[in-house]
Amino acid sequence: MVTLQTPSARPSVSIADLAAMRTRAHAVVSENRAAAAAPSAQKVPPEFNSSQVAELCGIDRNKLEHRRRKGGLPDGREEARRRMFTLKEAQAWVLEYRYAKTKRGCVPKTGLVPKAAVITVGNFKGGVGKSTTAATLAQGFSLRGHKVLVVDTDPQGSLTSLMGVAPETLEDEDTILTVASGDATSLAEAIRPTYWSNIHLIGAAPRISGAQFHLPARAQKDGFHFWSALSIGLDADIRDLYDVVIIDTPPALDYLTINAFFAADILLVPLPPSAMDFVSSTQFWDLFVDLNEEFAEYGMVKEYSFVNVLLSRVDANDSAAALVREWISESYGKHVLPVEIPSTAAAKTAAAEFGTVYDATVAQQSARTYRRAYEAYERLVEIVEDQLQRVWLSHVLPQGDGL
Ligand SMILES: Nc1ncnc2c1ncn2[C@@H]1O[C@H](COP(=O)(O)OP(=O)(O)O)[C@@H](O)[C@H]1O
Ligand SMILES: [Mg+2]
Repeated sequence: MVTLQTPSARPSVSIADLAAMRTRAHAVVSENRAAAAAPSAQKVPPEFNSSQVAELCGIDRNKLEHRRRKGGLPDGREEARRRMFTLKEAQAWVLEYRYAKTKRGCVPKTGLVPKAAVITVGNFKGGVGKSTTAATLAQGFSLRGHKVLVVDTDPQGSLTSLMGVAPETLEDEDTILTVASGDATSLAEAIRPTYWSNIHLIGAAPRISGAQFHLPARAQKDGFHFWSALSIGLDADIRDLYDVVIIDTPPALDYLTINAFFAADILLVPLPPSAMDFVSSTQFWDLFVDLNEEFAEYGMVKEYSFVNVLLSRVDANDSAAALVREWISESYGKHVLPVEIPSTAAAKTAAAEFGTVYDATVAQQSARTYRRAYEAYERLVEIVEDQLQRVWLSHVLPQGDGL
């Protein structure tokens, strides 16, 4: 039955309603951010038990205990008959073992690591796992002894939040906006330390959307190569300080994303094995190829050391995934990394607290899915670390010496 509506029954949402809703949402975010970081109101890194430190060092627990007794490395502290190490202490152990073992660039500033390799995580689709992948890679690399700079170019600031910084606290000069507007040529001033030692951050906030205006305006005014602002901003001094720069991008082909691609040595495209995401990825490659052809027209022939497709958020119970996986491997072949990131409750729980599986507390680590998630990310870190070694090596080889 259709009833006639009186004018007063007309559906209506006022701007005041929307404003009230917005205010409530902000309050919920800041309450929960604070709750996740309680009691210090600041995000704290996890602690590590001796098995975990031993695993990171690639030795067994007895060897670690034996070495600890010899002295010269952090002792950690005993707690409920377990020995616990802080993140910094764990990193000191890792440096000792990884350096002694490989002597080929596992540690910052060996002869073989002249400048940082740049990894850009991109896909025009949102929700595919870009920011989570960027954060986990950063944490995983830092646990292998590398110094990492993460750069957030997404105005939504998800990676910034994962790194323990509230986007709303950032000023223009804490972001990449200054190099987009031309107020600065270097990003050195925008870098800040984070709660996680050896990961530094250039954060993002909604205000960096201004770059979408500044970059084309500068290109029009004086022919500025709008795609190179970020690459130039990561100047030689910055590249000397870090082993890896990891750039997260927004789900759009905008001026900032183009800058992030142009700066990359390694491209990483997270892709869930669903039909929709696969179709969307074909459009991504269309635009990506066009973009690189345009660079070439300006005489900038862009080469990537590695282009990787990462199967992400893989749902073990999804029967259609197997078919889409076939499409993906048929289309992207050798570019598909030999690891899949499962969709897990552990990753979801971690995200609800503005963290990743690397932030999990010892109690959370007993969750059934934790180990599966952690091991997948560790394998990813290992594979990409291998690519990093090759990029670093290519930086010290004379031009033309292929690997
Ligand atoms: N492996 C995973 N398992 C379960 N949830 C995940 C996993 N990876 C990411 N997520 C969740 O999916 C959502 C989107 O991830 P995010 O990294 O923000 O994607 P993007 O940056 O591509 O938009 C987030 O809520 C995140 O917590
Ligand atoms: Mg994101």
